[in-house]
Amino acid sequence: MAKTTDNLKEAFEGESKASTTYLAFARKADQEGQPQVARLFRAASKAETIHARSHLDVLEGIKSTQDNLQAAVSGENMEHVKMYPQFIEQANKEQNPKATRTFDYARKVEIMHEGLYKTALDAIKGGGKPKATDYFVCQICGATIEGNAPDRCPVCGAPKTQFVKVD
Ligand SMILES: [Fe+2]
Ligand SMILES: [Fe+2]
Repeated sequence: MAKTTDNLKEAFEGESKASTTYLAFARKADQEGQPQVARLFRAASKAETIHARSHLDVLEGIKSTQDNLQAAVSGENMEHVKMYPQFIEQANKEQNPKATRTFDYARKVEIMHEGLYKTALDAIKGGGKPKATDYFVCQICGATIEGNAPDRCPVCGAPKTQFVKVD
């Protein structure tokens, strides 16, 4: 059982990674004028997401929404307080500005995520629901903004056109 739990975790991580990687490959295929290959990558990505979710379900990693929000708050907090600052320091030491930038974008956006999750969690703890609002995501840095897309991304400076509304 213990070994199978480890295997489920390993498979979950592998499938999650494959899903994201295939989406990136699909984008590249579209840019190279290969829409059929892009579709194939997107189809496989969706399937890997289903595998990942199923593995996570068996691992009992999907709980009540209140518990899931709490887990999300903790995860985002750890990332922007501990993980990314260490990664940024190391990238600076190694003079890898591209790595510094991608870590710094992520760190700043995880702060936003923690705040958004906290607000939702507080609403649910109070017995209600979060107020209905739209979310916009910057396609350059991932900045996650509620309400309306800003004229300029507060994290990376990208223009409003880079913001995509989430369904
Ligand atoms: Fe995040
Ligand atoms: Fe941005």
